[in-house]
Amino acid sequence: MKDFAGRVAVITGGAGGIGREIALRLGAEGMKIVIADVEAPILDKTLGVLAERGVEALGHQTDVGDYDSVVALRDATLDRFGAVHVVCNNAGVGSGGQSHAWEHELNDWNWCINVNVMGVVHGMNAFLPWMIENGDEGHIVNTSSHNGGFFPLPNTTIYATTKAAVVTMTEVVWAQLRQVESKVSASVLFPSGRQPGLLNTGIWRSGRNRPDSFAQQNPSQEPEGKAMDDYIAQMEAAGRPIVFAPLEEIADQLVEGIQRDQFWIHPPSDEHDASIRERAESMVARGTPDYMLAQLG
Ligand SMILES: NC(=O)c1ccc[n+]([C@@H]2O[C@H](COP(=O)([O-])OP(=O)(O)OC[C@H]3O[C@@H](n4cnc5c(N)ncnc54)[C@H](O)[C@@H]3O)[C@@H](O)[C@H]2O)c1
Repeated sequence: MKDFAGRVAVITGGAGGIGREIALRLGAEGMKIVIADVEAPILDKTLGVLAERGVEALGHQTDVGDYDSVVALRDATLDRFGAVHVVCNNAGVGSGGQSHAWEHELNDWNWCINVNVMGVVHGMNAFLPWMIENGDEGHIVNTSSHNGGFFPLPNTTIYATTKAAVVTMTEVVWAQLRQVESKVSASVLFPSGRQPGLLNTGIWRSGRNRPDSFAQQNPSQEPEGKAMDDYIAQMEAAGRPIVFAPLEEIADQLVEGIQRDQFWIHPPSDEHDASIRERAESMVARGTPDYMLAQLG
């Protein structure tokens, strides 16, 4: 899909962080924007920014973990704009569980899978049949992460597992869309700046959106965001202050990725390429995942 102007994009988790930047960027391309987010106050705030920039937009309070809620999002989109061309399944959360895999609470798994995996499934099930049937060009962008999508980082078992699932389901959907000769395509986004740097988003504090139905039995004593605060403090103490990557760069890559029909959307990085090769070579060699030990130190 090369032309955006006048077409319609839905962005889940579109009120904050990376999703907000995607919404602003696609709005700047002349698209009509639907932002779906579980958090009402930031939804209103981001809608205000879109309005200031002259973007025609709709906000819809949505829980991507609840299929009925995502169906209601699709219906609201079609009622308002009559079509949908781009769906960014971007909403995601950290798991809240940071320890050995066998020590995570089942609800850490349940919550993270509900949002990060089922949220994407719900987005595809709700929107793709309409998009395929409509017959127009379209694109689905599912958000994974280097963590899990390329290789898992230690101590993030659940999150990495969910992001690996996003890659696999998107690869399959990409092929199946071609099999049915649809003009809808699919990509997987690995958010990263073009220059190395942390992404300063709300994901470090995503427990704020954790529903009671997925509550922890033994809530972590650590305040939300402490992991990131500690990391920043450690790096500063070591004389290596943290650099934050501009989130706009991710939105730019997404736009270019859709225009080029690029499946794997991530910026050039020798470091990441080397890690991907190391993992693939371990599989081909029928060896052991020694790269995991190196990360554990
Ligand atoms: N920040 C990073 O370093 C990073 C790196 C790689 C991948 N990602 C992925 O990028 C995506 C966006 O994350 P972010 O970093 O912008 O985090 P964020 O917390 O700033 O944004 C996520 C948005 O999703 C919304 N949300 C959370 N649960 C929801 C639900 N159940 N239904 C609907 N909306 C919900 C939040 O309110 C928020 O606005 C996620 O899928 C995340 O896993 C982030």
